Amino acid sequence: MTILVTGSAGFIGANFVLDWLGGTDESVVSLDKLTYAGNRQNLASLDGDSRHHFVHGDIADQALVSALLAQHQPRAVLNFAAESHVDRSILGPEEFIQTNIVGTFRLLESVKAYWQQLPAERAGTFRFLHVSTDEVYGSLGAADAAFTEQHQYEPNSPYSASKAASDHLVRAYHHTYGLPVLTTNCSNNYGPYHFPEKLIPLVIHNALAGKELPIYGDGQQVRDWLYVTDHCSAIRRVLADGKLGETYNVGGWNEKANLDVVKTLCAILDQEQPRADGRSYAEQIAFVKDRPGHDRRYAIDAGKLERELGWKPAETFETGIRKTVRWYLDHQAWVAHITSGAYREWMSKQYQ
Ligand code: NAD
Ligand code: DAU
Repeated sequence: MTILVTGSAGFIGANFVLDWLGGTDESVVSLDKLTYAGNRQNLASLDGDSRHHFVHGDIADQALVSALLAQHQPRAVLNFAAESHVDRSILGPEEFIQTNIVGTFRLLESVKAYWQQLPAERAGTFRFLHVSTDEVYGSLGAADAAFTEQHQYEPNSPYSASKAASDHLVRAYHHTYGLPVLTTNCSNNYGPYHFPEKLIPLVIHNALAGKELPIYGDGQQVRDWLYVTDHCSAIRRVLADGKLGETYNVGGWNEKANLDVVKTLCAILDQEQPRADGRSYAEQIAFVKDRPGHDRRYAIDAGKLERELGWKPAETFETGIRKTVRWYLDHQAWVAHITSGAYREWMSKQYQ
């Protein structure tokens, strides 16, 4: 038995593959384009492991994907591959349209052709699981109820619009062709291997480097944080027992304002790695220009996943955020590798 995982060298994909092979002997074929966000190092601990086969390539390359499907005969395809950073989608949406919409379309075409020629028994158990985001639902007011799966799609950024389009394509391939699909819409993840362009790893990195900790606008935007391995366990539950054609919201019941998240990070760093001058990292906080069209609040109602599939997160924000800070302190070489070169160009374009 084999599964094909796309976007496996990125933050969540790598955590998923590492978790999967930590808990089962079912092999994994990894497909990743190795964009700026994809890092082969994330999977280095699997080098030489016969259960893991890494392929460098694009989900939009139908010839490659079809050949991989024919060769490895996976029982499931899990699609994590995407352009994922909202700020990059604002400065340059093109890649988001290309990978998130056209890439998902081409991947669906390859998978459909593979699935249609499977013997009936294998076609019946085959699954295509699409990993999506809560951002497709748009923004909530302070008093609004959390997003359920029934919430209408109101994407506000080029990133979320491209993810919404991919969700619709996945839905249509089920409705029209009967492709056995599942979709998960998850809230903000954090944890090991998180690329330091995103709030939590960026703040840890900047704090240790003595740089400003940039807070967009008033810092009162709310995100619902989920430790990444809890996202992985949710995806495994949905893959195993999710109802075909349905969507599942995944979240940690951990709503936090950005400023509070940053202050928490500073407090943990003050304990774990105090500044040489004895002052708090919180002194490095700087309020900067807001993100255009910045969504004010996301909150996920993960009740369906709990009621129907018995999933609950294992980590609280307090346990997860400590583990995360510890991981970054223990993996400074990983951070140094990532933050050389092209990363610096992005930082100066975005923040100056
Ligand atoms: P990431 O940017 O860290 O990783 C994306 C990976 O996809 C990279 O390894 C990249 O090289 C690869 N990739 C990009 N384009 C590709 C292509 N055309 N073909 C093959 N590989 C390609 O992203 P992430 O944070 O790990 O997110 C993974 C998925 O989860 C995305 O679909 C994202 O929308 C979704 N998601 C992320 C979060 C979050 O908080 N990070 C929350 C909910 C959902
Ligand atoms: O909600 C799920 C989404 O979470 C995923 O679909 C996206 O792929 C993922 O990137 C994430 O999107 P956000 O925009 O919420 O994440 P980010 O870490 O970029 O920002 C978190 C919040 O912090 C957001 O309100 C913007 C703010 N922020 C971010 C950065 C990078 C700052 O205030 N300063 C910053 O420098």
